[in-house]
Amino acid sequence: MSDDHQLRVSKIKSGTVIDHVVGGQALNVLAILGIDGKEGEEVSVGINVPSDRLARKDIVKVEGRELSQDEVDVLSLIAPDATINIVRDYDVVEKHRVDSPDVVEDVLSCPNPDCITAAGEPVTSRFEVLEDGVRCSYCGTIVRESIADLIDT
Ligand code: CTP
Ligand code: ZN
Repeated sequence: MSDDHQLRVSKIKSGTVIDHVVGGQALNVLAILGIDGKEGEEVSVGINVPSDRLARKDIVKVEGRELSQDEVDVLSLIAPDATINIVRDYDVVEKHRVDSPDVVEDVLSCPNPDCITAAGEPVTSRFEVLEDGVRCSYCGTIVRESIADLIDT
């Protein structure tokens, strides 16, 4: 495919491009980052677009906002191969990978109905990140698959 046929999501002027997201996870990326468009953020999303590196990838472009490393690290739960590009005046000025955090707070909800976090108590959810999953700090429940299903929306 020639380049002039390839641009699917326009370049941004300044902000953050989250690239190489596992195909189909872009909406979870937005949920984790708390981006719902209600604050007027300018966001472009590509879902299941062709990619060299992955068979299919998602891409999220947030105009006017430079996401910090802490903000993007929680994305490693659902998009471990994501590349974060900070764009200023149309140029990529920083490119880095997401790094698995030790703990994620206020991002996932515990699936255990008996967990104190499920009882309507004012407790912030907290999960320790394991090599192959996450563990609720309150009740010890371990989740290894479909972590995206635990995302608070
Ligand atoms: N990008 C953008 N707006 C810009 C500059 C870049 O939306 N003003 C996007 C590109 O479309 C690409 C990503 O940011 O999806 C990274 O840009 P770049 O580093 O130029 O592309 P690649 O070299 O292909 O990146 P990689 O090696 O990480 O695949
Ligand atoms: Zn729990």
